[in-house]
Amino acid sequence: MTTPKRKLRSAEWFGTADKNGFMYRSWMKNQGIPDHAFDGRPVIGICNTWSELTPCNAHFRKIAEHVKRGIYEAGGFPVEFPVFSNGESNLRPTAMLTRNLASMDVEEAIRGNPIDAVVLLVGCDKTTPALLMGAASCDVPAIVVTGGPMLNGKLDGKDIGSGTAVWRLHESLKAGEINEHQFFAAEAGMSRSAGTCNTMGTASTMACMAESLGTSLPHNAAIPAVDSRRYVLAHMSGKRIVEMAHEGLTLSKILTREAFENAIRTNAAIGGSTNAVIHLKAIAGRIGVQLDLEDWTRIGRGTPTLVDLQPSGRFLMEEFYYAGGLPAVLRRLGENGLLPHPNALTVNGKSLWDNVREAPQYNDEVIRPINNPLIADGGICILRGNLAPRGAVLKPSAASPELLKHRGRAVVFENLEHYKERIVDENLDIDASCVMVLKNCGPKGYPGMAEVGNMGLPPKLLRQGVKDMVRISDARMSGTAYGTVVLHVAPEAAALGPLAAVRDGDFIELDCENGRLHLDISDEELAARLAALAGTDNGGRGGYQRLYVDHVLQADDGCDFDFLVGCRGAAVPRHSH
Ligand code: FES
Ligand code: MG
Repeated sequence: MTTPKRKLRSAEWFGTADKNGFMYRSWMKNQGIPDHAFDGRPVIGICNTWSELTPCNAHFRKIAEHVKRGIYEAGGFPVEFPVFSNGESNLRPTAMLTRNLASMDVEEAIRGNPIDAVVLLVGCDKTTPALLMGAASCDVPAIVVTGGPMLNGKLDGKDIGSGTAVWRLHESLKAGEINEHQFFAAEAGMSRSAGTCNTMGTASTMACMAESLGTSLPHNAAIPAVDSRRYVLAHMSGKRIVEMAHEGLTLSKILTREAFENAIRTNAAIGGSTNAVIHLKAIAGRIGVQLDLEDWTRIGRGTPTLVDLQPSGRFLMEEFYYAGGLPAVLRRLGENGLLPHPNALTVNGKSLWDNVREAPQYNDEVIRPINNPLIADGGICILRGNLAPRGAVLKPSAASPELLKHRGRAVVFENLEHYKERIVDENLDIDASCVMVLKNCGPKGYPGMAEVGNMGLPPKLLRQGVKDMVRISDARMSGTAYGTVVLHVAPEAAALGPLAAVRDGDFIELDCENGRLHLDISDEELAARLAALAGTDNGGRGGYQRLYVDHVLQADDGCDFDFLVGCRGAAVPRHSH
């Protein structure tokens, strides 16, 4: 008989000798669970985002089995449960539309069930923030287990990276540099094992965020999905969560303001995705930590990007793991005084620094030394100005340095359909110095803020050899994408932000060094143009989309729902019968 070291939630279900205890235990017993499982041992939820429609998470039932082995070994009682699975590659109009839905699912599933602590099985982009958001709103002990990245993609004997190869090959196809046969030959080679995108896209970025926040065991971010050490990590996480349940090591003890500062610094060092700006804000909001866009400037900017991974650099997640993974990066930051809070607590009960101070570093090309970084001044550039009063973001490491200060004539696309129709027009009045502006792709406008901000360049310019142009939108872009792309403009066009007022021929100034995004018209003209416009309402179809459009916050607030911000705890609800 395990003696609980503290009062556990599950005792309110399974620990009584009355009618209710009978009911809660009896129905569980139909699964063949013996009496002694109800002796007061911690009940550990395994929150599984497995789905065959989320290919990146399709191997999760096997991971869950290894988590269970660890839980049993430590004397816990594992209960696996499914939650809404956000698959980035299949879900339309965008997996971002349902991130908050999944977070609600997670939160209510944890609070309503006899769960003392939870293992969060995450992988594909939105699954990581969604599960952390839901668990944070409950503030139970939680540990993240990521599914791990795919092996390196291969094409013609060379490595190709998830997503990044798609954008690049598609541009080459449009420029006439490759034919369709070569283009389609990349499909099978790019995704040749279980796992998430093998670039430093949003999935790998969020895995690194979870590790730098202290919510996972060391090395969780980078071990390939099919590497047996991934299953060992799952086992050890299962073992550890039982101890965490006994210790009462809840998420709010890990997800402190200090942890988020460590994560922001880490994002700069890894050349992480712009999507992390939105997701970290949303997670922080759930646990009651104040995070502002300016934190990304203050803590992130000036940090050297050490990790030479696509889309900013050359390598892929396999090399990243073999080079030492995230612990090697954190060690390098810490040794150079660049880890803001080395003493931040992590799920294994040790500080972040204790976990990484002796981490081996095997390859200085993949994880570069501080004095030879990939980008000297990495991080996410936060922009403000009359075009983005509530901010916008740009990832300098994925941009062209010569375009980071630029003034150009706007070519405006009112929405994605307008862009698709116009961009192929050989008579479109556009040259490489123009600024492409895309509207109505923000949270309310798309709806769901799709990853369309890295809109492809006009085919006629691609054929001339143009590789990059300044692009501005209220959309997001895939973490695997690149270019001089201003994203997350807030307020968005559909909420009548100034972006809605931009017209063909206006001049726009981008100045990354000074964080400025300016539309070159007078305040009066801007106000007059906006007054003449009506906002867009995309909630007309009803259903979840109605809820989404009515309650989604703007990008600078993390695109959470207004009513979901905050921690509601995990007090045991009333009996069901
Ligand atoms: Fe799932 Fe990239 S599409 S991780
Ligand atoms: Mg994505």
